[in-house]
Amino acid sequence: MSIKIAAFSGSLRKDSYTTKLVKAFQHLAPEGIAVEIVDISQLPLLNQDLETDLPQQVKDLHSSVENADAIILATPEYNRSYSPVLKNALDWGSRPQGQNKWDKKPVAVLGCTPYNLGAFGAVNHLRQVLVYLNMQPLQQPEFYLAGAAEKFDEQGNLTDEQTRKMITAVWTSFTELISKSNS
Ligand SMILES: Cc1cc2nc3c(=O)[nH]c(=O)nc-3n(C[C@H](O)[C@H](O)[C@H](O)COP(=O)(O)O)c2cc1C
Repeated sequence: MSIKIAAFSGSLRKDSYTTKLVKAFQHLAPEGIAVEIVDISQLPLLNQDLETDLPQQVKDLHSSVENADAIILATPEYNRSYSPVLKNALDWGSRPQGQNKWDKKPVAVLGCTPYNLGAFGAVNHLRQVLVYLNMQPLQQPEFYLAGAAEKFDEQGNLTDEQTRKMITAVWTSFTELISKSNS
């Protein structure tokens, strides 16, 4: 089995908990699964005028998504919704019209916040968009990381055993979903 996953962090912040979470997923990926973390920091803001001559960063995003068997989207929560950089990447990936690169891709959604509610509002909004993009979201287990500031050490390594178990549970179900989708 050789599965390629393109993973996206919805935070551009240097010390982002969301990015640390994506790296923890990468680190704990089962044998045979390669996780590429896609840099979306250089994508221009969506502007349909750019579609006549797509910027290289957009072409690179398209290649990363096209070459992936499945997607991980990790989001912080901003005012009870998901992050604008993630929306920008999702929108670019759906363009030009009729060339939706996300189509039918299995996707795992991760919410992450230093506060208490696990970024539920962000995940909930994000899931609505993934349905329209015709992706195949992993329904269960859901993944919400609350109290993220206490879950990593100074080097950004995951230190929390409960979170490690949650990640492993997501990988088990996500791998099943990807295998079914590829068969
Ligand atoms: C504009 C803005 C709005 C925010 N709104 C929320 C929110 O609705 N819920 C929440 O849990 N945290 C909220 N936060 C705090 C973020 O969870 C916190 O900044 C977090 O560290 C961002 O994720 P990151 O560490 O991956 O960069 C907000 C932060 C900003 C900048």
